[in-house]
Amino acid sequence: MKRALTPGTFDPITYGHLDIIKRATAIFDEVVVAVAESTPKNTLFTIEERTELVREATKCFENVRVENFDCLLVDFARQMDAHVLVKGLRAITDFEYEFQMNALNHQLDNYIETSFIMSPPKFMYLSSSIVRELASLNGDVSSLVPPCVEEALKRKFAKN
Ligand code: COA
Repeated sequence: MKRALTPGTFDPITYGHLDIIKRATAIFDEVVVAVAESTPKNTLFTIEERTELVREATKCFENVRVENFDCLLVDFARQMDAHVLVKGLRAITDFEYEFQMNALNHQLDNYIETSFIMSPPKFMYLSSSIVRELASLNGDVSSLVPPCVEEALKRKFAKN
Protein backbone atom coordinates (compact mmCIF):
# COMPACT_ATOMS: atom_id res chain seq x y z
CA MET A 1 0.00 0.00 0.00
CA LYS A 2 1.35 3.42 -0.97
CA ARG A 3 0.75 5.71 1.97
CA ALA A 4 1.59 9.44 2.03
CA LEU A 5 1.63 11.91 4.87
CA THR A 6 0.56 15.54 4.54
CA PRO A 7 1.76 17.47 7.60
CA GLY A 8 0.89 20.93 8.84
CA THR A 9 -0.32 23.06 11.68
CA PHE A 10 -3.75 23.54 10.08
CA ASP A 11 -4.66 26.58 12.17
CA PRO A 12 -7.18 26.30 10.56
CA ILE A 13 -7.44 24.02 7.51
CA THR A 14 -8.24 25.97 4.31
CA TYR A 15 -9.43 25.14 0.79
CA GLY A 16 -5.76 25.43 -0.23
CA HIS A 17 -4.82 22.53 2.09
CA LEU A 18 -7.89 20.57 0.94
CA ASP A 19 -6.86 20.99 -2.69
CA ILE A 20 -3.45 19.42 -1.93
CA ILE A 21 -5.03 16.62 0.15
CA LYS A 22 -7.57 15.83 -2.59
CA ARG A 23 -4.88 15.64 -5.26
CA ALA A 24 -2.73 13.43 -3.02
CA THR A 25 -5.67 11.02 -2.58
CA ALA A 26 -5.67 10.48 -6.35
CA ILE A 27 -2.00 9.47 -6.32
CA PHE A 28 -1.66 7.44 -3.11
CA ASP A 29 -3.70 4.57 -1.68
CA GLU A 30 -3.96 6.29 1.68
CA VAL A 31 -3.22 9.83 2.83
CA VAL A 32 -2.53 10.50 6.49
CA VAL A 33 -3.13 14.14 7.37
CA ALA A 34 -0.75 14.80 10.26
CA VAL A 35 -1.70 17.70 12.51
CA ALA A 36 1.30 19.05 14.44
CA GLU A 37 0.63 19.32 18.15
CA SER A 38 3.56 21.42 19.26
CA THR A 39 4.52 24.17 16.90
CA PRO A 40 6.58 27.34 17.31
CA LYS A 41 3.43 29.16 16.23
CA ASN A 42 1.02 30.53 18.78
CA THR A 43 -2.10 28.80 17.52
CA LEU A 44 -5.62 30.20 17.60
CA PHE A 45 -7.18 26.72 17.78
CA THR A 46 -6.17 23.99 20.23
CA ILE A 47 -4.78 20.72 18.89
CA GLU A 48 -8.16 19.06 19.57
CA GLU A 49 -10.02 21.79 17.65
CA ARG A 50 -7.56 21.77 14.72
CA THR A 51 -7.74 17.98 14.46
CA GLU A 52 -11.54 17.90 14.67
CA LEU A 53 -11.85 20.55 11.94
CA VAL A 54 -9.48 18.60 9.68
CA ARG A 55 -11.57 15.43 10.33
CA GLU A 56 -14.81 17.22 9.50
CA ALA A 57 -13.36 18.88 6.37
CA THR A 58 -11.87 15.63 4.99
CA LYS A 59 -14.68 13.22 5.88
CA CYS A 60 -15.74 13.04 2.20
CA PHE A 61 -12.46 11.32 1.28
CA GLU A 62 -12.52 7.57 1.82
CA ASN A 63 -8.75 7.16 1.83
CA VAL A 64 -7.87 9.96 4.26
CA ARG A 65 -6.99 9.37 7.87
CA VAL A 66 -6.35 12.19 10.35
CA GLU A 67 -3.82 11.91 13.18
CA ASN A 68 -1.98 14.32 15.40
CA PHE A 69 1.67 14.07 16.31
CA ASP A 70 4.07 15.52 18.82
CA CYS A 71 7.50 14.36 17.68
CA LEU A 72 9.85 14.73 14.73
CA LEU A 73 7.94 14.53 11.47
CA VAL A 74 10.25 11.85 10.07
CA ASP A 75 9.72 9.70 13.20
CA PHE A 76 5.97 10.03 12.86
CA ALA A 77 6.12 9.17 9.15
CA ARG A 78 8.01 5.97 10.02
CA GLN A 79 5.50 5.19 12.76
CA MET A 80 2.73 5.50 10.17
CA ASP A 81 4.70 3.45 7.64
CA ALA A 82 4.54 6.35 5.18
CA HIS A 83 7.69 7.17 3.31
CA VAL A 84 6.41 10.06 1.22
CA LEU A 85 5.67 13.48 2.66
CA VAL A 86 3.36 15.51 0.44
CA LYS A 87 3.59 19.29 0.69
CA GLY A 88 1.98 22.10 -1.24
CA LEU A 89 4.08 24.71 -3.01
CA ARG A 90 2.46 28.08 -3.44
CA ALA A 91 4.47 31.21 -4.23
CA ILE A 92 8.21 31.14 -4.82
CA THR A 93 8.73 32.15 -1.17
CA ASP A 94 7.66 28.64 -0.06
CA PHE A 95 10.50 27.12 -2.00
CA GLU A 96 13.39 28.20 0.19
CA TYR A 97 11.70 27.06 3.40
CA GLU A 98 10.62 23.75 1.85
CA PHE A 99 14.08 23.23 0.38
CA GLN A 100 15.55 23.60 3.88
CA MET A 101 12.95 21.32 5.50
CA ASN A 102 13.44 18.71 2.80
CA ALA A 103 17.22 18.75 3.28
CA LEU A 104 16.86 18.49 7.05
CA ASN A 105 14.29 15.70 6.95
CA HIS A 106 16.36 13.82 4.40
CA GLN A 107 19.42 14.10 6.63
CA LEU A 108 17.44 12.88 9.63
CA ASP A 109 16.06 9.93 7.70
CA ASN A 110 16.93 9.25 4.08
CA TYR A 111 14.12 6.69 3.81
CA ILE A 112 11.67 9.60 3.70
CA GLU A 113 11.00 11.39 0.40
CA THR A 114 9.25 14.73 0.04
CA SER A 115 6.98 15.28 -2.91
CA PHE A 116 5.51 18.64 -3.87
CA ILE A 117 2.18 19.52 -5.41
CA MET A 118 1.84 23.01 -6.88
CA SER A 119 -1.09 25.05 -5.63
CA PRO A 120 -3.34 26.44 -8.35
CA PRO A 121 -3.22 30.25 -8.84
CA LYS A 122 -6.45 30.80 -6.89
CA PHE A 123 -4.82 29.42 -3.73
CA MET A 124 -1.35 30.80 -4.36
CA TYR A 125 -1.60 33.53 -1.72
CA LEU A 126 -3.90 31.76 0.71
CA SER A 127 -2.57 31.00 4.19
CA SER A 128 -4.05 30.21 7.56
CA SER A 129 -2.86 33.53 8.99
CA ILE A 130 -4.65 35.46 6.22
CA VAL A 131 -7.83 33.55 7.08
CA ARG A 132 -7.43 34.23 10.83
CA GLU A 133 -6.85 37.92 10.24
CA LEU A 134 -9.80 38.26 7.88
CA ALA A 135 -12.12 36.42 10.28
CA SER A 136 -10.94 38.48 13.26
CA LEU A 137 -11.99 41.62 11.36
CA ASN A 138 -15.36 40.16 10.40
CA GLY A 139 -14.33 39.60 6.79
CA ASP A 140 -15.99 36.99 4.56
CA VAL A 141 -13.91 33.79 4.54
CA SER A 142 -16.50 31.57 2.87
CA SER A 143 -14.49 31.21 -0.36
CA LEU A 144 -11.32 30.29 1.56
CA VAL A 145 -12.41 27.70 4.13
CA PRO A 146 -15.08 24.99 4.43
CA PRO A 147 -18.32 25.85 6.30
CA CYS A 148 -17.27 24.02 9.51
CA VAL A 149 -14.14 26.20 9.75
CA GLU A 150 -16.10 29.37 9.00
CA GLU A 151 -18.46 28.53 11.88
CA ALA A 152 -15.57 27.71 14.22
CA LEU A 153 -13.90 31.04 13.42
CA LYS A 154 -17.13 32.91 14.11
CA ARG A 155 -17.48 31.16 17.47
CA LYS A 156 -13.83 31.79 18.35
CA PHE A 157 -13.92 35.50 17.60
CA ALA A 158 -17.32 36.01 19.21
CA LYS A 159 -15.77 34.64 22.42
CA ASN A 160 -12.48 36.56 22.22
N1 COA B 1 -2.78 26.17 0.94
C1 COA B 1 -2.97 27.13 1.82
N2 COA B 1 -2.08 27.42 2.80
C2 COA B 1 -0.99 26.65 2.87
C3 COA B 1 -0.73 25.63 1.97
C4 COA B 1 -1.68 25.39 0.97
N3 COA B 1 -1.52 24.45 0.06
N4 COA B 1 0.46 25.08 2.29
C5 COA B 1 0.91 25.73 3.35
N5 COA B 1 0.05 26.70 3.70
C6 COA B 1 0.21 27.67 4.77
C7 COA B 1 -0.11 27.15 6.12
O1 COA B 1 -1.46 27.34 6.43
C8 COA B 1 0.79 28.00 6.95
O2 COA B 1 0.18 29.29 7.07
P1 COA B 1 0.46 30.26 8.31
O3 COA B 1 1.95 30.37 8.44
O4 COA B 1 -0.22 31.48 7.88
O5 COA B 1 -0.16 29.62 9.52
C9 COA B 1 2.03 28.19 6.12
O6 COA B 1 1.59 28.04 4.81
C10 COA B 1 3.13 27.21 6.40
O7 COA B 1 2.64 25.91 6.15
P2 COA B 1 3.53 24.61 6.34
O8 COA B 1 4.76 24.71 5.53
O9 COA B 1 2.66 23.44 6.12
O10 COA B 1 3.97 24.73 7.79
P3 COA B 1 3.14 24.46 9.05
O11 COA B 1 3.57 25.46 10.02
O12 COA B 1 1.68 24.40 8.81
O13 COA B 1 3.65 22.99 9.45
C11 COA B 1 5.27 21.31 10.09
C12 COA B 1 5.02 22.74 9.60
C13 COA B 1 4.30 20.88 11.14
C14 COA B 1 5.15 20.39 8.90
C15 COA B 1 6.72 21.34 10.62
O14 COA B 1 6.85 22.35 11.58
C16 COA B 1 7.12 20.01 11.24
O15 COA B 1 7.49 19.11 10.54
N6 COA B 1 7.04 19.91 12.60
C17 COA B 1 7.39 18.69 13.33
C18 COA B 1 8.77 18.78 14.01
C19 COA B 1 9.83 18.57 13.00
O16 COA B 1 10.04 17.46 12.53
N7 COA B 1 10.52 19.67 12.64
C20 COA B 1 11.54 19.64 11.62
C21 COA B 1 12.87 19.31 12.15
S1 COA B 1 13.40 20.38 13.45
